[in-house]
Amino acid sequence: MKEYDFVVIGSGIAGLSFALKATRHGSVAVITKRKGADTNTAWAQGGIACVTSDEDSFELHVRDTLEAGAGLCDEAVVRTVVTEGPERIRELTELGVQFDQREVSGHHRELDLGKEGGHSKRRVLHVRDATGQEIEERLLHELAKRPNVDLWENHMAVDLITAAKLGFATEDRCLGVYVLDEKTEEVETIRSDRTVLATGGCGKVYLYTTNPDIATGDGVAMAWRAGLEISNMEFIQFHPTCLFHAEAKSFLISEAVRGEGGILRNHRGEDFMRRYDSRGSLAPRDIVARAIDAEIKRSGARCVFLDITHKPPEFIRERFPHIYRTCLRFGIDMLKQAIPVVPAAHYQCGGIKTDVNGATSLLGLFAIGEVGCTGMHGANRLASNSLLEGLVVAHRAAAAAVQTRPARKQKIPLPEWQSGNVQDVDELVVIYHNWDEIRRLMWDYVGIVRTHKRLQRASARLRNLQREIREFYWNFKVSIDLLELRNLAAVAALIVDSALCRKESRGLHYTLDHPETDDREFKRDTLLRRG
Ligand code: SIN
Repeated sequence: MKEYDFVVIGSGIAGLSFALKATRHGSVAVITKRKGADTNTAWAQGGIACVTSDEDSFELHVRDTLEAGAGLCDEAVVRTVVTEGPERIRELTELGVQFDQREVSGHHRELDLGKEGGHSKRRVLHVRDATGQEIEERLLHELAKRPNVDLWENHMAVDLITAAKLGFATEDRCLGVYVLDEKTEEVETIRSDRTVLATGGCGKVYLYTTNPDIATGDGVAMAWRAGLEISNMEFIQFHPTCLFHAEAKSFLISEAVRGEGGILRNHRGEDFMRRYDSRGSLAPRDIVARAIDAEIKRSGARCVFLDITHKPPEFIRERFPHIYRTCLRFGIDMLKQAIPVVPAAHYQCGGIKTDVNGATSLLGLFAIGEVGCTGMHGANRLASNSLLEGLVVAHRAAAAAVQTRPARKQKIPLPEWQSGNVQDVDELVVIYHNWDEIRRLMWDYVGIVRTHKRLQRASARLRNLQREIREFYWNFKVSIDLLELRNLAAVAALIVDSALCRKESRGLHYTLDHPETDDREFKRDTLLRRG
């Protein structure tokens, strides 16, 4: 058994920011499924929304966030995150993150702020079109300098260890976590008084996603099994523009392309968004994704097109080097032709219910970043608000975790992991089949436009799949594939169950059975708890 003062599961912006701050107060382990940089953060192109210009104000940023959130944001949380943003950005720049600047007059330079859907002002700080990658590298670089931190790469958290699960029910608390070492295939026990879930989202639950392979909903699934409250999982954000190409897996075409004038066109070349919303291609994401879905279904075309060919080539190459190069690799020259795009699952607005400090209802357990649901995003996240939330909540969580540390270490003995049966999985095909079935099922039945009948069908299928997966789980040695499948199935069921509870349309949840918003009945969070 290993013991640390703080255990952080996940190595994106939230997990690493927490870890860096916690190293000042004790020993830290950062557990990550693959390499340190294999995170959603590293794939974030757009940037960080933050008020930095004289033409902008906290009030406007708060207003835009609340408007996107469609009545479900917690205004106090939004205010905290928005107003504490500039201080956290300053810390990032001190670590060496150089946000893009532009020359204004003579030698005077200022931040080059991007614009994205739903923002009334330019306020997105970015490093060209690879903001997340730059931040991730800086944070990992900084962490590597700290003496009291261990980065556990290729390790996957299996389950949280809680006092209640061990039979000490009077005061439930999180005591640590079981972790699978991919190389040795052994499950290790880590004890800690402060465990932090920073595992990101669950894009891989859908057939098409902008997320990397690690996004399998692990944190939400573990918290669910530990009996925590899970909030608002029906609100899955579909990004309108994922590259449509047979060989391109999950490549995002940033909303910043539309922010700089890119126009969405259908297969006939029409600027169709004008028919759906007066803001055209830069309408909020939920509206654009639904419009593309409708356009594709109506015409039978397989994608729509994002056209920025009217902008000067040097501007495109300079502002979007990563997108430009990647499209070229797939034979698409965005200087001369429109980029084929489709919507894809992008962001989980719900998650483990927490306060603005990332504290969950289980003592000693924090959930920060995409895995947590603070109330910041409500029913629809405003573009580029997530890195900001990750930074601010990680900072607050680190302070809260230190302040509330128990005076004496927990003495409850932790049992070693019991592998019920040591057989290797004999038919991997079953895992891969179930994995594909979940992702296809979620795409077809629980996508951008929903119906009660399709949700019920999805629910019945998922129950069967979960039964099968449970049998596998207890009869065979655990592997990362099997653990991810179990988590994926649990999170898919949570999305479906939450969607079935909401008999209205709001933000990212749109159902043909109840196309109106019903403020009287449903202006509230969806909360699910096991049992
Ligand atoms: C994008 O670059 O379009 C993604 C930004 C975000 O999802 O916040």
